[in-house]
Amino acid sequence: MGAVAYLPGQHDRAKLMRYDTAVILKRFFFVEESLVISQAGWLAGVGTMEAKYTLARHMWEDSLTGDAQRTRVFELRYPSRLMEIGDEEPLMRLVNEARNAPSGLAMVQSLAQVFKPALLAAYRAYLALADGIGDGPSIRFMELALREKEAQITELEGLLPVLREYHPEDVADAEAWCAEIARRLNAMGGIGLDPVEAKAGDPVTLPGREPFALAQIPERDRRFRQVTYYWPDVVDPTYPYGDGMSLQIRSAISHLNEVWAVETGGALLHAFADELGWEFVLDAARWTYDESRHMRMGYERLMAWGYETAELPLGTYIYMAAYNQDPIYRLGSLYFFETKNIKRKPERIKSFTDFSDDVSRHDMDFDWADETIHAAYGTRWLTKLLEVRGEAKPDPHVVRAYVGNLVDSMVAKATDADRAEIRAIADHIMTKAQKIAGA
Ligand SMILES: [Fe+2]
Ligand SMILES: [Fe+2]
Repeated sequence: MGAVAYLPGQHDRAKLMRYDTAVILKRFFFVEESLVISQAGWLAGVGTMEAKYTLARHMWEDSLTGDAQRTRVFELRYPSRLMEIGDEEPLMRLVNEARNAPSGLAMVQSLAQVFKPALLAAYRAYLALADGIGDGPSIRFMELALREKEAQITELEGLLPVLREYHPEDVADAEAWCAEIARRLNAMGGIGLDPVEAKAGDPVTLPGREPFALAQIPERDRRFRQVTYYWPDVVDPTYPYGDGMSLQIRSAISHLNEVWAVETGGALLHAFADELGWEFVLDAARWTYDESRHMRMGYERLMAWGYETAELPLGTYIYMAAYNQDPIYRLGSLYFFETKNIKRKPERIKSFTDFSDDVSRHDMDFDWADETIHAAYGTRWLTKLLEVRGEAKPDPHVVRAYVGNLVDSMVAKATDADRAEIRAIADHIMTKAQKIAGA
């Protein structure tokens, strides 16, 4: 009798087994999640318009990649619903530590030159080994994630020159910061298909770190006019919201000034990620990305009409109203101030139709659709947060009243000089609008 014989089982398709695949995707998820939180927290701390809307989109893309990875881990480990860090702890200590970057430039540079390239390489390695038959459902979203990471790296590199120009004093520290993270990541074997080679519990504190703190005064794009109140009607009840050309301008200025909503969305994602969990992170990432699209709608309309950035006001009063306050009030401000005009939007859409202003109509119409989603986010997460905090009768209206008072007291601080300044800016914009329209 010969030895028991079997058919050969060696095959390229069998390189990654089900359990290995789940372990690897879980590692990727934790990295994506951490980077989403880092990008969100830093939105108020990076100055350029392009950096704000680029990071907001990237973190939304990353949140969807993370969500697909997380869902797939649950499928592969069914019925387990555990997502424990376990062996990934040393890697995650380093990825989380990167949030304590010494500057916005250092944070963006670490994404551009360390973390996103490391994820790109890891995703390439994964796709090179994964089996299109056994693991087909993963391959679709991993291929998309790979393409997005490639594009993100190029876009992030494109942000660096202006960030360096704004803060030349941060350039050397940012270089050192990224070199140190890269060195430590390489020493662990990178973000790969195998667990990192480091002992659990090793503390990671990088030289030059600044413990993360939300920018209470937002960093803004210096090409724009820096003001507190972005239109005269905010501080002067006799100044009309306007109709006709005034409404076209007012609406675009409102959209542009949703910069505060982008910063606020990021701030609350970062603040409540641990307390409210992944489902909240996913909603908040989309919410923040939407606000960045609204900001960009105004920016692009005003540019297309022929305005220069130096003519356009960027105001801080709503963001600053929550200065050093509990971030629950930032959640409240995003919910209430962004949705309070929701009922007026259909009538504005009709006005833009009457003016044959297709682009304002288009933007307002898509904005309206987003706001209906945001109203649901606001109710859901504000109520949940109050519950988590042990409120016996969670009532978002209490938060609404407090936020209203914060903003009212910010408006009450307006001086005659503030009123004169924004009036002059608005008069110039309206005079130019008359010229552009040939009126
Ligand atoms: Fe918005
Ligand atoms: Fe919104």
